[in-house]
Amino acid sequence: MNGKKKQVKIIFDSIAYRYDFLNHLLSFGFDYYWRKRALRLTGVNSGSILLDIACGTGDVSIEARKLGVEKIFGADFSFNMLQLFSKKSPWIKGKSIQMVAENIPFKDYSVTNIAVAFGVRNFYDIQEGFNSFYKVLTPGGKATIIEFRLPSNPVFKGFYKFYFKKILPLVGGIISGDKEAYSYLPRSVEEFDEKIDMKELLSNSGFKKIDMYTLTMGIVQVIIATK
Ligand SMILES: C[S@@+](CC[C@H](N)C(=O)[O-])C[C@H]1O[C@@H](n2cnc3c(N)ncnc32)[C@H](O)[C@@H]1O
Repeated sequence: MNGKKKQVKIIFDSIAYRYDFLNHLLSFGFDYYWRKRALRLTGVNSGSILLDIACGTGDVSIEARKLGVEKIFGADFSFNMLQLFSKKSPWIKGKSIQMVAENIPFKDYSVTNIAVAFGVRNFYDIQEGFNSFYKVLTPGGKATIIEFRLPSNPVFKGFYKFYFKKILPLVGGIISGDKEAYSYLPRSVEEFDEKIDMKELLSNSGFKKIDMYTLTMGIVQVIIATK
């Protein structure tokens, strides 16, 4: 198995049972707002067919359901995360699939919306992931990506880096019992921020209209790419 694929899968299978608790604690509850805001910016509704990629324990799908979306599929390569999603939300049973984002086994033009929250950074091949999104979206369909970024304000960036690189791995490591998983998080965000131009990769895959938003002083980016 590809090195990054294996490493990331091990991490999420290992922290799955503490994931939700730590997510809400370490983001001070902001993660709920980020998902809701991104879905509102996208404009999902009862006519949407949503594929929640890297769905984890399902918080994007849960938020989408509150906004009236009925046709929802969840996809993730971590079995443990998917199991927790089904426990939390029995309505997803039969519609959550263990698969990789880089090779979505859906028919071409079969979904109106794809959403990925805090998943793209972990893909082992982001370009392949975006190619796969493009294939399964209907014309006019939208891919909504939520991802961590580093803030640009130098003073805030200093505070943020201290929290993200010192406090978060410490608390996350103690509570989850997996020190490596919570030092992977800031490392992966920093590397992603330095190296990845999502706009370029999305246009390589064929997306024409790409709208970008920043939330909470630039620590989160939302990208909405239309096919
Ligand atoms: C940080 S969690 C995000 C979960 C959820 N979207 C949320 O908002 O809380 C990242 C998820 O991406 C999944 N993942 C990472 N790389 C993947 C890939 N290449 N294919 C499918 N799932 C992947 C992990 O298993 C994990 O559940």
